Amino acid sequence: MSRILITAALPYANGDLHLGGVRSTYVPADVFARFCRLSGKKTLFCCATDEHGTPIEVNAQKEGLHPEKFVEKYHKRQKKDFDALGVSFDVFYHTHSPENHKLSHQFYRAAQEKGLIFEKEVEQTFCANCTRFLPDRFVKGTCPFCGALDQYGDGCEKCGKVYAPRDLKDPRCAICGKSPTAKKVKHAFFKLSACGEPLDAFLSTAALQKDVVSYVRNWLTDLKDWDITRDGPYFGIEIPERNGQYFYVWFDAPIGYMASVQAWCDANGEKLSDWWNEENQVVHFIGKDIVYHHYLFWPAMLDAAGFAFPSRIPTRGFLNVEGEKMSKSRGTFVLVKDVLGRFSADSLRYYLCTITPNSTADGNFAWKDFQAKVNNELIGAYGNFVYRVLSFIQRQGGVVPVPSKGNPVDEAFEKRIDAFFGPVTRDLEQVGVKEALEKVMAFASEANKYFNDRAPWHLKEEKELNTVLYLSAKAAFALASALYPFIPFSSEQVFKQFGVFPKKWADVSAFKAGLVLSDVKPLFLRMEDRDVDAEIRKLLKKH
Ligand code: 2FM
Ligand code: ZN
Repeated sequence: MSRILITAALPYANGDLHLGGVRSTYVPADVFARFCRLSGKKTLFCCATDEHGTPIEVNAQKEGLHPEKFVEKYHKRQKKDFDALGVSFDVFYHTHSPENHKLSHQFYRAAQEKGLIFEKEVEQTFCANCTRFLPDRFVKGTCPFCGALDQYGDGCEKCGKVYAPRDLKDPRCAICGKSPTAKKVKHAFFKLSACGEPLDAFLSTAALQKDVVSYVRNWLTDLKDWDITRDGPYFGIEIPERNGQYFYVWFDAPIGYMASVQAWCDANGEKLSDWWNEENQVVHFIGKDIVYHHYLFWPAMLDAAGFAFPSRIPTRGFLNVEGEKMSKSRGTFVLVKDVLGRFSADSLRYYLCTITPNSTADGNFAWKDFQAKVNNELIGAYGNFVYRVLSFIQRQGGVVPVPSKGNPVDEAFEKRIDAFFGPVTRDLEQVGVKEALEKVMAFASEANKYFNDRAPWHLKEEKELNTVLYLSAKAAFALASALYPFIPFSSEQVFKQFGVFPKKWADVSAFKAGLVLSDVKPLFLRMEDRDVDAEIRKLLKKH
């Protein structure tokens, strides 16, 4: 059986999960992973925390923790958020791990053997007072582009430009505040400029996202070699042969995908090579801010090390909140745990799917829109339908009745139950989460219409009543099955009420007359104005 390996961009172990990441990456990846598993594919869904680099070191220092303790703390917190949101990773691992250490060296050696590593002298900022190099965030100063004060050495938070620490105006050491000096040092570079051909071949992979490939192709003509080393002290993976130097965090981060697979394989008696090979699919879900790393660096590294290219890289856009860029100071930086403190995981998953098209288009999270979509669609079109049908049957004795043939309206509806999965499947195979969900919800509206038009509460004739109830219950079961990848918690509740679980995707044969319903109750709580308004007030307060 062919296998599918699904990864989701590794979150930095540097804070709590926010809506931007779950909307672009984790929820779509989880919907796809659940769909693949149900479809009978051998599926492995992997992630890890990205634990190296200077932002982590700087923040660990601020919290007075050793970086190892700091990343462990955020790893645990993120794991808790992922579990609460129902993100079903088979493995959630670490980049600061022996597997990643070993694999990073393997990649480095392979690139060396292919002549893709060379040494070049570069000028680095050095603090004589602290006697250390100051990579990236260890230098602060004035942005060379817009003049914003107090910016980090790797880029300006005001104007968004990226630069090297040595470019800052009035630079100072972020640790002691003294002016740094420049020191010449030799770094190892990855010769990306020599990888044009394999990258060109990679970008022709049929399943890659067209809107991304079309702009990444423009970068092929001007591939820049890539400095993959940082001077110690640095929280990362040491390169013994380079005397006190470490891999730059972005070198070992994508290797972390493979390290998580390796860790899972070791724990489950399997081999990495059985997952990562030409025959299987490797699918990376990412946000559009890390396109360069995944469409260029990573395939070049994989090719140099003799591994298969990814088959697909679903790439989603940024998330605005109430029409504005997410920002901590403006209160638009919404954390997953804060939303889940008040509203259900399925409500949030449902809403995020409705605002995540199969493209790099940015999305907008708006509280009133969230409330409207949950109350009118999720509950109005789906939850209420399921509850009305099941509670009606409950009142009739609680057993799914036996249907009869003969009524063309009923027969046409039964055909629709069997047919609506087709287009949904095609969308999900293409990772179109929003598109697939819209089709399921369109069928929920059809089912509602059928139930209202056939109005079982007016039917006197038993055979007719039984048929309508049977078909409505079958539609409810089919809807819960189709919605399972999107909103797994409530679908499981529906399956429990029926006492049976679907055997596989698009197969409703587990549903039949004679099933005894139990514990029938509403699936969702409405989002009330007072709760939504409280969230909006919180946001306005910070403005
Ligand atoms: O941009 C980020 O949040 C990175 N931590 C993503 C890493 S993805 C992978 F390459 F490791
Ligand atoms: Zn200093």
